[in-house]
Amino acid sequence: MKLISIRMGLVTLLACGLIAVCSSSAVAQDAAATYKAKCAMCHGPDGKGSAMGVKMGARDFTSADVQKLSDAQLTETITKGKGKMPAYDGKLKDTEIKDLVAYIRGLAKK
Ligand code: HEC
Repeated sequence: MKLISIRMGLVTLLACGLIAVCSSSAVAQDAAATYKAKCAMCHGPDGKGSAMGVKMGARDFTSADVQKLSDAQLTETITKGKGKMPAYDGKLKDTEIKDLVAYIRGLAKK
């Protein structure tokens, strides 16, 4: 009996640990997945712009020109669109757009 309860405790501990690890990295993973699915075809997997994005006038996300823009400006462009950039208002949740802005910031640090 004692052995079983120790085992159960271990399993619970393990499960809790796993959930904590998964939920803390879930945000970053979500943004990366969304970016890959919806943005990378124009902005490139590394944010520097794909052939298609460059042709349409998308700037390199890792450049100072884009990084000097405020979070509010980046959010607005993603929400409302700009030039050939499609608007994602209603297609992505506010929280998803916020995560994407953070993801774009992260691209510059690599
Ligand atoms: C159909 C191609 C296309 C797709 C898909 C696309 N973009 Fe863009 N994006 C552009 C173009 C082109 C611009 C430049 C707009 C301009 O300045 O006229 C741009 C500009 C931006 C900017 C502003 C940077 C700047 O140069 O001022 C941000 C931020 C951005 N896009 C984020 C995203 C995100 C996040 C996604 C995915 C949810 C996405 N884009 C999907 C084409 C695209």
